[in-house]
Amino acid sequence: MSQEQPVSAKQVEKIKLSYARCLEHKDFFEKFYKNFFNVDSRVPGYFQKTNFEQQRKALRYGVEYLIMYAEGSRIGETKIEELGLKHDRRHLNIPVDLYDKWMQALLTTIKQHDSSFNDELEKLWPYVLSFAIAQIKSKY
Ligand code: HEM
Repeated sequence: MSQEQPVSAKQVEKIKLSYARCLEHKDFFEKFYKNFFNVDSRVPGYFQKTNFEQQRKALRYGVEYLIMYAEGSRIGETKIEELGLKHDRRHLNIPVDLYDKWMQALLTTIKQHDSSFNDELEKLWPYVLSFAIAQIKSKY
């Protein structure tokens, strides 16, 4: 069942606009992976065999699914279910504490690319994405 998240349409709109500003920069995901690799020494080891051209595209949609989940979208829910399975202990085996690092790296990258970044967005991004991330972690 699709569940209504306690996130307002206005809040989601602000995140979508911020994300659109970030995506105007072609190097956004390249910078994200640089920041993610630097945030915790365990991270690079997980990506040794990764095709980064594909991975950058996958993450572009991945972030969109996190936002859709916050909106209560059924598609978002299905995609988050799949991401939870993919990252769980039987598949990629991603320790749950790395999701805070992931969010930290994403926020750093957003700050570097969104020219209208402000204190409100600094709180709003982790808040809006927290619902889907909690769901992914719960599937570990
Ligand atoms: C909520 C945050 C995250 C999102 C939205 C996300 C999204 C994705 C997506 C869309 C894929 C591609 C899935 C596919 O090919 O079917 C993926 C793969 C992967 N993710 Fe995540 N991810 C997240 C967190 C993490 C974290 C914390 C790690 C820790 C290192 C991680 C490591 C990986 C790895 C190793 C792959 C496979 C890369 C490969 O194909 O070689 N992810 N992720």
